[in-house]
Amino acid sequence: MSTAQINSATPDAASALTAQWNDTPQAVDPIIALMQTYTDDVRPERANLGIGVYQDDLAETPVMASVKEAEERILAAQRSKTYVGIGGDPALVKAIGDEIFAPSTQWTGVQGVGGSGALRLIAEFCGTVSPDARLWVSDPTWGNHFALFDASGLEVRRFPWGVHARDGIVDRALDALASAKPGDFVILHACCHNPTGIDLPPEEERRLTDAINGRGLIPIIDAAYVGFADGFEIDAQALGALAAQFPLAFVAFSASKNFALYRERVGVAFITGADPARLADWQTILLSAARCAYSMPPDHGAASVLEILRDPALRGMWLDELEAARSRVARLRKAFASALEEEGTIADAHFIAAGTGLFSLLPLTREQVIRLRTDHAIYMLENGRVNIAGLREESIPRVVSAISAVAST
Ligand code: LMR
Repeated sequence: MSTAQINSATPDAASALTAQWNDTPQAVDPIIALMQTYTDDVRPERANLGIGVYQDDLAETPVMASVKEAEERILAAQRSKTYVGIGGDPALVKAIGDEIFAPSTQWTGVQGVGGSGALRLIAEFCGTVSPDARLWVSDPTWGNHFALFDASGLEVRRFPWGVHARDGIVDRALDALASAKPGDFVILHACCHNPTGIDLPPEEERRLTDAINGRGLIPIIDAAYVGFADGFEIDAQALGALAAQFPLAFVAFSASKNFALYRERVGVAFITGADPARLADWQTILLSAARCAYSMPPDHGAASVLEILRDPALRGMWLDELEAARSRVARLRKAFASALEEEGTIADAHFIAAGTGLFSLLPLTREQVIRLRTDHAIYMLENGRVNIAGLREESIPRVVSAISAVAST
């Protein structure tokens, strides 16, 4: 390499080239940033009630035994790592689609990169086919909904959700949705609302879906926690029944939590309801979005899910493991709620005991949450979202007294 070439690669030369760039640094998503801060914390008593991953009694997130078995079979049988396809493995998409929508076949799907990737494909689809539509999300909702849909150019608006009670949710939501325009999109959480853990009872859900249909809105159902409300088969059927109430719906299914396959990124973007020709056309739009973004999804986790769903014995083993996780969280919810009430920290913690999925939203200020982290090594999101699965029976008294300590000052 000549001296001139070396000299051209100086910081000054780079500055001159990029002087006109709009390169303001971006904040890391707070959920992921908190995960990193927790990882760097060396205090032995640290408790991770932040990111939404299931943890067991040892505060670990193990690979499920059914997944291990599926992986071993895949490794033994796999003869090639050649490409699978832009839409992933159609057999996997069909296996998950059948779990949710059967006997209906009026759906199409494309494998995404996890549930977030499936949502991103749907966002890209919506922004492409209807750029002037708006997207409505519950307030509060999962923080990444904003980034995922902002990136597609859709204007994001909010409708209120219950934080500590189900009462009045639908009335308040409908007031806000009165200003939605026909053709606007609305995100619904299939179950285990993130971050509140508050789902609607069936008759209230029906009022909301009727209003969505009456106003000509199009639902996008975020299905990240299927299996953590009432068990996988019940939750999957409820999801299919919810989608079937609409002439057209999107579903973003995630296998991150229910198969504990977080880093393997398994998810599917579905569209339901239209006739086969239109569904086929729409699938091409999802595929084109996928090809532009990452070309093809990873296969290892998807192959594991398919192996489990195809083999009745392995499927049974997986359902048992998921049920053990679900019922453990339900037990922790009750124990945590009782302890908070007994300590007088929260007078009525029914919303925690009766909540579904991993999360509840504690009535804490941002400052109190930060003190929990700095003074007590207890990590939760700054809006007060706790991941109940991060608790252990024996850690509940310490967590509750720390919450009491910060809440009382
Ligand atoms: C969460 O809400 O914590 C999870 O869905 C993880 C994530 O990607 O944000």
